[in-house]
Amino acid sequence: MTIPSASPDVLPAPDPAAAAHSARLLDHLRVEIANAGGAISFARFMELALYAPGLGYYRAGARKFGPGGDFVTAPELSPLFSRCLARQCREILQALGGGEILELGAGSGVMATDLLLELGALDALPERYAILELSGELRQRQRQTLADRAPELLERVVWLDALPQSGFRGIVLGNEVLDALPVERFRMTTHGPRRLMVTWTEAGLAWAEGEEDPAVTAAITRIETELGWRLPEGYTSEYVPHLTDWLRAIAEPLAAGALLLVDYGYPRRDYYHPERAMGTLLCHYRHRVHDDPLILPGLQDITASVDFTAVVDAALTIGLEVAGYTRQNYFLFGCGLMELLADQIPPNPPFPKGGGEAGGILNPADAVHYLEQARQVKLLTLPGEMGDRFQAIALNRNLDIPLRGFAFRDERSRL
Ligand SMILES: C[S@@+](CC[C@H](N)C(=O)[O-])C[C@H]1O[C@@H](n2cnc3c(N)ncnc32)[C@H](O)[C@@H]1O
Repeated sequence: MTIPSASPDVLPAPDPAAAAHSARLLDHLRVEIANAGGAISFARFMELALYAPGLGYYRAGARKFGPGGDFVTAPELSPLFSRCLARQCREILQALGGGEILELGAGSGVMATDLLLELGALDALPERYAILELSGELRQRQRQTLADRAPELLERVVWLDALPQSGFRGIVLGNEVLDALPVERFRMTTHGPRRLMVTWTEAGLAWAEGEEDPAVTAAITRIETELGWRLPEGYTSEYVPHLTDWLRAIAEPLAAGALLLVDYGYPRRDYYHPERAMGTLLCHYRHRVHDDPLILPGLQDITASVDFTAVVDAALTIGLEVAGYTRQNYFLFGCGLMELLADQIPPNPPFPKGGGEAGGILNPADAVHYLEQARQVKLLTLPGEMGDRFQAIALNRNLDIPLRGFAFRDERSRL
């Protein structure tokens, strides 16, 4: 997602259909909360708000991606992102002697389309491009995007209802999928860490503090031990409770190849930095960013930054190799972003023989095209924005080659 510089004072009101949809999800949440004895964990709330069948944000009709939606992701900002990724994929597919690509949560289908077009141009198409998408509406949109822009490649694309069987050789891609995994929210108290719960009051959804729970205590003890410092009283943050199980399920079918995940986040020491005392939860609604996940259920995206050290811990636990970790801008540079931009530089106007004044005129359309490409490069790579808030990580199995995306600068030592 792009990160606007300021939070809004006022959020636009949903239209009547959206408000009715949100009210239906709210009823569902009320029943869940009542059935659970008055409160549910924030992780369960987030799971329902995003993924309750037919009701959750990613399982129902909201537009989500692009200018008419709630947020914009890197592949939506510029095809240069997917063209760079294609170059990394080509290198891996060549090393494997062929293989497939599996994309998790493919959004509007823009990344799949640009990636396949580029791999086609590089004569390096995968045997199959599989998409695992939870939302029926998004599947439809992805198929349409591919049909409109790359109809000749559509036959290579399949939509899966479940992860592939064992023996998968190739690449698993996930852009901004990790940040959409439900997180447990906790607060440090004088009595130790407490899970934050979601309850129902006369005023609507509200926060509540949970009882002592050995699972939360163990998770926070582990985090503090690795950090080497104690989180102070009042400190509030998040962690993904089932990250290892999630990664295990994704990686289990992988016989040889790599998982490439790109997302916003930090190494653990920065994630639980003393200055980040209210955690990393953010909500995206109609291109506004705010930090209240309890409003607008079903109409807004809820995300948390990724603790990449936790991703590494999970990867090592299940026997994956961490093949590279770096910021998005370094990853794109390693994949040849600046060469792709250089290809767009308009040709010099011809000069007359023997020197003198320029003999031709720069085509203004070429110049505008180049400047637009340069603007997109800036959006993808600027430090302080997408360039270093987003990180790329590669987790390999039975693939022992250096990956070009991490050749520019590999920052595994930060994890
Ligand atoms: C922020 S969107 C990113 C979409 C797209 N990758 C992009 O970059 O534009 C998050 C996506 O992750 C998907 N997702 C979340 N949990 C998932 C899971 N467990 N398996 C597969 N996809 C998942 C959502 O359905 C959604 O499509």
